[in-house]
Amino acid sequence: MLLRLPDDCWFFCFSLLLWLITGGLAGDPFVFYDWTVSYITASPFGVKQQVIGIEGQFPGPILNVTTNWNVVVNVKNNLDEPFLLTWNGIQQRKNSWQDGVSGTNCPIPAGWNWTYQFQVKDQIGSFFYFPSLGFQRAAGGYGGIIVNNREVIPVPFATPDGDITLFISDWYIKSHKELRNDLESGTGLGAPDGILFNGLGPYQFDKALVRDGIPYLIINVEPGKTYRLRVHNVGISTSLNFRIQNHNLVLVETEGSYTVQQKYSNMDIHVGQSYSFLVTMDQNASSDYYIVASPRFVNSSASIKAPGVAILHYSNSQGPASGPLPDPPNEYDTYYSMNQARSIRWNVSAGAARPNPQGSFRYGDITVTDVYVILNRPAELVDGRWRTTLNGISYIAPSTPLRLAQQFNVPGIFKLDFPNRFMNRPAKMDTSVINGTFKGFIEIIFQNNDTSVQSYHLDGYAFFVVGMDYGVWTENSRSTYNKWDGVARCTTQVFPGAWTAILISVDNAGMWNLHAQNLDSWYLGQEVYLNAVNPENDNTEVQLPENTIYCGVLSFLQKEQAQRVRFSAAPSFDNTIKIVLVAIIVALLGL
Ligand SMILES: *[C@@H]1O[C@H](CO)[C@@H](O)[C@H](O)[C@H]1NC(C)=O
Ligand SMILES: *[C@@H]1O[C@H](CO)[C@@H](O)[C@H](O)[C@H]1NC(C)=O
Ligand SMILES: *[C@@H]1O[C@H](CO)[C@@H](O)[C@H](O)[C@H]1NC(C)=O
Ligand SMILES: *[C@@H]1O[C@H](CO)[C@@H](O)[C@H](O)[C@H]1NC(C)=O
Ligand SMILES: *[C@@H]1O[C@H](CO)[C@@H](O)[C@H](O)[C@H]1NC(C)=O
Ligand SMILES: *[C@@H]1O[C@H](CO)[C@@H](O)[C@H](O)[C@H]1NC(C)=O
Ligand SMILES: *[C@@H]1O[C@H](CO)[C@@H](O)[C@H](O)[C@H]1NC(C)=O
Repeated sequence: MLLRLPDDCWFFCFSLLLWLITGGLAGDPFVFYDWTVSYITASPFGVKQQVIGIEGQFPGPILNVTTNWNVVVNVKNNLDEPFLLTWNGIQQRKNSWQDGVSGTNCPIPAGWNWTYQFQVKDQIGSFFYFPSLGFQRAAGGYGGIIVNNREVIPVPFATPDGDITLFISDWYIKSHKELRNDLESGTGLGAPDGILFNGLGPYQFDKALVRDGIPYLIINVEPGKTYRLRVHNVGISTSLNFRIQNHNLVLVETEGSYTVQQKYSNMDIHVGQSYSFLVTMDQNASSDYYIVASPRFVNSSASIKAPGVAILHYSNSQGPASGPLPDPPNEYDTYYSMNQARSIRWNVSAGAARPNPQGSFRYGDITVTDVYVILNRPAELVDGRWRTTLNGISYIAPSTPLRLAQQFNVPGIFKLDFPNRFMNRPAKMDTSVINGTFKGFIEIIFQNNDTSVQSYHLDGYAFFVVGMDYGVWTENSRSTYNKWDGVARCTTQVFPGAWTAILISVDNAGMWNLHAQNLDSWYLGQEVYLNAVNPENDNTEVQLPENTIYCGVLSFLQKEQAQRVRFSAAPSFDNTIKIVLVAIIVALLGL
């Protein structure tokens, strides 16, 4: 070395240099993916069926990135219907253009491609992507998203010896097209045909319940080592209890929040939720062990044939897993699952996307500006169609995405009139949006008037889960809120006949989708948007992307895909004229 630096400067100087190279000077890195989406064949229960693969894989590839990286994904739709991927839990800061839901993006038509570009700004954690349209998630098309800590921010536990992503889901042999027809005709989904682990059927733990020759998932591990398991319920409508025979689950993270590290023998994972557990291989290897995902809160009459079972295989294992599956929790203990959910706490002293502790955002001290009590109801006939509602409104997706309509000032596509309480009036179909107060602090209470567990997901944000209980929420219920270490996440469950309260800091400009994760409830109308407009001109808000697809009343702005590719370097003169024309027409209509 040419310079003689004091020993204790090395770490600092080296870190500074690393920062200059990786972020300070070079900018945040880019990663590029080219993904073809197509039907492939799979037989999870021994019956051939068409599933949606990404790059020929089911589940799709894992998007493994680090805080603030830029992600570019060119998605080619080789299905026979329109397609969009949504990046569940990725906050798309000031950039709802990349959210991939019907209110923000025109669908990618069959045979077309479209390139997403977004930054995973200021967040860490375990999430997943999935197709957001037409019940397609029931056919697969999902995959994991990992957002790692930046090098400079320590993870609040020792580096695990391995990182394993698990997708658990209820599954039907019927296609997503048949299932959505059933829903529209009021038939309902019926009981699923089984539970999958990473797209695979169950291990034959019982010859009477599981047929021969079904491929199953094997997780290979080394004795004594500790693994991080990222478990996602990517299913259709069934809450699942996850557990591993003779092994503890140490909960460390959920949907981007580091949690207080606590041991659980099992965890209820509701549709759309994600958890990270550390699991230590501390058992003798006299045999393999069962990994189980079994349905929760389903009537025994409707209960499905078999739970999902995968195998944990120690490298020195002496033989196959044996004995009965580990016991599920008691179905009749109503509070078991709710108490478990309440026990999940934020580690307020751990850093995450930023070096300062997560708990330095004192959500409990912020004054609430708007309160919404959102009541969901089971499917009912609305104007002769089977529909579900939130506060008596069943969402109708207009053919022009809300965000595009807003951008081009197209009137009459949506109304900013979503009611903050259930209205005692007949249910109706509408495109009604929550008028968010920018920089406000919204309290939402979900009141579940259905007989099944529901989960609700908000795009663009992580919200604080501050309370849940059985019965009807009242103002007094606020006295039970956790105002200190409730976790910030993006999907929360609401038990039947119960409520869940969340708090949202409305600091992300855009049009953000709030929807039921249970696909049946979502498909039939449990969806609403939160519109957050920054009244000040904010030049950091991401502009309309150059490759935007146009549809609905704006479809005349769209060129054929072949032409688009050729002219993609600059917006064409033609478009400029058309945009001016639209502005003139809109101004005239407004008069
Ligand atoms: C993700 O990428 C990092 C490097 O950026 C690597 O260390 C890690 O093993 C990868 N994780 C998975 C699950 O592939
Ligand atoms: C479609 O893919 C091509 C490369 O295969 C790319 O050049 C083009 O920009 C993509 N189109 C869109 C709209 O993203
Ligand atoms: C190994 O562990 C199993 C389960 O805990 C136990 O039943 C068995 O007796 C143990 N065998 C040995 C050799 O320690
Ligand atoms: C089971 O079915 C009965 C009668 O249909 C219903 O009242 C009850 O809520 C159901 N239980 C669950 C857990 O879904
Ligand atoms: C919380 O995070 C800190 C790191 O900041 C870690 O040392 C501690 O063990 C964590 N606490 C719990 C209870 O998980
Ligand atoms: C929406 O809220 C803003 C204030 O945040 C208000 O100025 C505007 O009038 C509201 N719009 C409607 C349609 O209520
Ligand atoms: C649904 O709401 C009605 C009143 O609006 C109430 O009588 C009923 O008990 C509620 N049911 C559930 C399951 O919460």
